[in-house]
Order: sequence, then C-alpha cells, then structure tokens
Amino acid sequence: MTSIELEERFGAHNYHPIPVVLSEGAGVFVWDEDGKKYFDFLSAYSAVNQGHCHPKIIGALAEQAQSLTLTSRAFYSDKLGKCEQKIAQTFGFDKVLMMNTGAEAVETAIKLARRWGYEKKGIPENEAMIVVVGGNFHGRTTGIISFSTDPDSRRGFGPYMSGFKVVPYNNVSALATALQDPNVCGFLVEPIQGEAGVYVPDEGYLRKAKELCEANNVLLMADEIQTGLCRTGKMLACDHEDVKPDILTLGKALSGGVYPVSAVLANDDIMLCIKPGEHGSTYGGNPLACAVTMSALEVLEEENLATHAEVMGEIFRAKMNAIKAKTEVVKVVRGKGLLNAVVIDETKGRTAWDICLQLKEKGVLAKPTHGDIIRFAPPLVITKEQLEEACERITEVLLEG
Ligand SMILES: Cc1ncc(COP(=O)(O)O)c(C=O)c1O
Repeated sequence: MTSIELEERFGAHNYHPIPVVLSEGAGVFVWDEDGKKYFDFLSAYSAVNQGHCHPKIIGALAEQAQSLTLTSRAFYSDKLGKCEQKIAQTFGFDKVLMMNTGAEAVETAIKLARRWGYEKKGIPENEAMIVVVGGNFHGRTTGIISFSTDPDSRRGFGPYMSGFKVVPYNNVSALATALQDPNVCGFLVEPIQGEAGVYVPDEGYLRKAKELCEANNVLLMADEIQTGLCRTGKMLACDHEDVKPDILTLGKALSGGVYPVSAVLANDDIMLCIKPGEHGSTYGGNPLACAVTMSALEVLEEENLATHAEVMGEIFRAKMNAIKAKTEVVKVVRGKGLLNAVVIDETKGRTAWDICLQLKEKGVLAKPTHGDIIRFAPPLVITKEQLEEACERITEVLLEG
C-alpha cells in the first residue's frame, strides 16, 4: 500500500490532506517521497516559524535527548526553571505554566480565569462566564468546541460546556455590553483570527478591548498560539497595538515545530490562584520540551524574525494585490506579517482546493481554510529571493490556471 493508502486504511479520517507525501524538510522547503521539492506555505499551521529542522533547535533536541527526557513534575528538573525564566522574561510576565498542545494551553487559561474570577473577583460559585467571539478557533477539546461557532467543529459532540457567551468579532459595542455582566471573568480572543480565514480586526479593536476589560475587572485572554512568535511581524500580534493581555497562550512555534510545547503566561495575582495538585500534565514542561523551547525562542531573537516577517509580508501582499488587479479570481488579499490569506472567487471556474492542487504541481504547498480562503504562511526564515520565486509560481497559477 502507498503511504496515502495506509493512512486511509489505518488512520482515522479526521483530516482531508492535500495529496502529497512529505518525507524531508529544511528551512522553507519540504520534499516528497519522490524527491520533489516544494515551498512550504503552511508551516504546519504556523508551528514551523523558524523553518523546518532548524539546526540549532534540532541540536538542542539531540543533546537533551542524550541526557534526560522526562521527569514528570513529581520532581524538579535542571531545565524547567531556566525555561520558565526565559519564557516569562521574553514576554514580560511573572510566571508561566507549560503544557503540550495549544488546546491544552487554552483549557488551562480557561481554568485559570475561572479560578481568578471566584477567588479575586468574587463571582458566585459555578457562575463564571467567559466572553468569546464568533468565528473563534482555540482547539478541539470538548470544552473548547462548546463555544465554537463552526458547525463542523461542534455538531454531534454535545453535551456542551456552559459558561461562555459569544459576541461578534471586531465589534466593540457588543463586547462592551457583554462585559458588564458581573459574572464575566475573561474575554478570550485571537488578535487575528487564523483558522477562520486570517481576519484582521480594525485598528484599535484590541486596545479598546483591553480598556473595556480593565473597566469591568475582566481578564483579557489573548490566544497567540497561531499569531504569536513573530508570525505577524511582531513578537506578539498584541504588540501591534501595545496591548498586554492578562493571560497569554502560546504554542506551535514555541518549539519551532520540533516537539509539542505550549504555555500559559500570567502575573502572580492570577497564576498563583492555581495551587499544587489542582492542574498539570505528565509531559508538560519536560526537559526535552524545555531545551527545545529555549533554543526556539533564541532563534526568533537571533535571526530577527519579527522584523523580517513584517518586511516579507509587505512584499507578499504587494505581489498578491498586483495579481488581484489583473484577475477576478482573487477577491481579497489580507493579513499581517507572514500570516496572509487570498480569497478566491469560486464562481470563476476554480475552487480554492483546485488552486491548491495546481500550486502543488508548481511546487508550492498551501491549504484552503473555510472553503474559498487560501492561507499563505511560509516559515519566517524565507529570503526575499525565495519569496519572489514562490510568488512567481503563485502568480502563474492564479493568472494562467
Ligand atoms: C489560535 C489557536 N489556538 C489554539 C489552537 C490549537 O492548537 P493545537 O492544535 O496545538 O491543540 C490553534 C490551532 O490551530 C490555534 O490556531
């Protein structure tokens, strides 16, 4: 059986991959089983910001793997404290709680906000509410899908968890009304909605959200699992508006695509609401994760990837807008830094999926999100020359079919 047939036969059918079988990666490139080379314009949903198999991160992984991989949190390790210090100081928070996947970080953030709501805000027991937005994507757990507005994510997985109120994204007045409820402990939001299709809110939305949260004694919970770690041209997407969230979730590129690592950051008055025995994970904060995370963060800083993403993003959008001016196939170009989307007019003969298949033939890998939207998010280490070459291939596909 081929690799694809094996996955079909023995794997659950919970994804619909582009039909390409990858076996190697380096920097912005991946290779398939037959040795064909592709530009990776998905970066494993923005986990591989530092590029595939970054030598420094792989070096840290290999070195740590020789000495100690897992202690559990029953004991201290010589890496965890150092890694916590690095993460906390990089993002300017008192403390960090390390988990593994993005969804776990969000679940942790929800628990933390609720606990703070009861202990510090005085919300009556079991009455805490978290305000979320339409089109949100925070992961796949039963808790998180309880407040998803995407029918595919939710349908048939009930009963759902209560305690969430959905308001429209990018709508300040709806948020202002919702936050007045004295039982609201947190407002959970992606600074740019990635999975929904790279929706960038109006300038000032986050700043206003922060003001409203402060005025109502509500925690601003920023999910930067996809937007963080230089992807949008700043270390955090919140930095574009000089907003500091009260709770920050990170994941994906926190390990440069090498190992599942996520984290929740908060200051002491929030983080210390959780006491020993009240939350945890066997693998969370393990020595291997810590070694990988420290080097992944160093790569972002040493290679100045935030500024580079900002500059490359401008070039990318200019090229895509030039295509848009020439063809009706492209309806919209939007994004920030190297998190971008092109919306396809599917009435012009090709679907976004068709176009992704054509891109694959030309050696560029991208995937549609929500039907007609193609997300373009290459590793941030992409050079100007590489970006220009990839854009030429994208142009050929969009203009010539
Ligand atoms: C904003 C955001 N939060 C959470 C998640 C979930 O992360 P994971 O797939 O690692 O559970 C994602 C994944 O795409 C995401 O984009």
